[in-house]
Amino acid sequence: MPRFIALAAAALAAHALTAQEPKKDEFPPIPTVDLKRSAPVEYGADIAPIFEKKCFVCHTGNVAADNGKYDMSTYEKVMKGGAKRGAKVVVPGKSGDSFLFLSCARQVKPMMPPKTEEPLTSRELSLVKLWIDEGAKAPTTVRVKEKVVVNLPPALVKPVRAVAVAPDGKTVAASRGNQIHVFEAKTEPADKKGGPEKKDWVFARTLLDPQLKTPDGKAAKAAHVSLVESLAFSPDGKTLASGSFQELTLWDFEKGEPRARVGGFADKVTAVAYSADGKYLGTGGGAPTEDGEVRVFTADGKPFSEVKSGHSDTVFGLAFSPDGKLLATCGADKFVKVWELSAEAGKAAKFVKSFEGHTHHVMGVGWTPDGKKIASCGADNFVKVWDYEKGEKLRDMQGHQKQVTNLFFVGKTPQFLTASGDATVRMWNADNGGNVRQFPGAPDFVYAVSASPDGAVVASGCEDGVLRVYNGTSGALVKAALPPDAEPKKDEPKTEPKKK
Ligand code: HEC
Repeated sequence: MPRFIALAAAALAAHALTAQEPKKDEFPPIPTVDLKRSAPVEYGADIAPIFEKKCFVCHTGNVAADNGKYDMSTYEKVMKGGAKRGAKVVVPGKSGDSFLFLSCARQVKPMMPPKTEEPLTSRELSLVKLWIDEGAKAPTTVRVKEKVVVNLPPALVKPVRAVAVAPDGKTVAASRGNQIHVFEAKTEPADKKGGPEKKDWVFARTLLDPQLKTPDGKAAKAAHVSLVESLAFSPDGKTLASGSFQELTLWDFEKGEPRARVGGFADKVTAVAYSADGKYLGTGGGAPTEDGEVRVFTADGKPFSEVKSGHSDTVFGLAFSPDGKLLATCGADKFVKVWELSAEAGKAAKFVKSFEGHTHHVMGVGWTPDGKKIASCGADNFVKVWDYEKGEKLRDMQGHQKQVTNLFFVGKTPQFLTASGDATVRMWNADNGGNVRQFPGAPDFVYAVSASPDGAVVASGCEDGVLRVYNGTSGALVKAALPPDAEPKKDEPKTEPKKK
């Protein structure tokens, strides 16, 4: 409705209501305050953080929720305005003529951010107003990224941050510090007394990248220079993907050597996941408090697509939908988001919807095999299940006493596993909300969990540097595994690792 008619209608309504209580405006304009500043408002320091916090969800990159009509990711783009209002969005020197200010002040419609979101505070609004009135000047500061020097992690830092059970359920890969070790299932036949056959897991080999050098040029004798943060097997079990600080390696698992190395990541590659058909591989990461990073590669490590400015902070988890068309991501910005992947290489993924409800970092995400539900877990100790179509939360699942660090769906079942800082792993059912089983026995923070597609083998990675393998059906701990060089010294001679 044009503004003058709205005003006239409001005046009439007010007149008719004189005898009664005047009706309160549900969303009254937000007042501005006198900021009493001596220094001029500076875009980079004062304004960008506000936009980042309250507008970026919908207004960044070609994934914007307003269909890419108004991209606010840079100063230049903010000034250019949206498709509808262009230069009227920010009129330098005139906040009263600038749609951006008026919509944020709730003086015009549509108000920004929309009513479902947290509005600007008086102070934030006043900063925006002052910035425009002072001429909407360009930033004079640049965010300086800290220079990072990569060093080998100290010898004592050997958490198992990532585990992956091979699709055949007979092998488990586990990180330990900057190493990746492989353990194999061994079944001891039933003994003479007729006891049941015994399952054991034995060390098989360590994956070493021969090209890997420390910053001073020495052979690093490891899988990565820094801690290994993420591991995933391709569905055919032939490739193991490992993520670390600024790099991803694709290992030929049979040969135990790197097949492809991908660099150029902004920070740690905190998550890797394959699509069900094995054609694509997604990575999550990004530096804390900067843009989250989500990239999609073909199975041989060639860049295929990415999500641009999809999360305003580190991405911790991602999962392809069972049909491979969608990608769910989650991160430190508390959001779970879903993106539509283009079938064409080089095209950025399109934002579909977001799920909001976690009150802390969202650490892991996954889909039920029918693609109808999404499960997520977070540093708020919660596991949540969402209805994908409706975009609504179905249930909160409580049980973990500390942050829930990782989530893994068991094959093509509605059951999934979560790992937690409370030293346990739990199995849940996304369809009925049940806590199916618990896997205790770890003494410390558990970072990672994985399982064989049939759920018979469950593996977890812990701060204490130990890989734990469980019987997925009974919950019993089968093996607390260490590589030979980490085994506590025993009397009997150590067995040499099998050479490949
Ligand atoms: C939840 C999503 C969402 C959030 C958060 C949001 N917006 Fe919007 N914004 C939209 C949508 C949708 C439109 C298109 C509406 C229309 O123009 O009718 C829009 C349009 C705009 C436009 C008009 C662009 C043009 O040229 O027409 C401006 C300006 C704007 N938003 C500013 C902001 C600012 C500033 C913030 C943060 C303080 C913000 N928005 C937060 C969804 C959002």
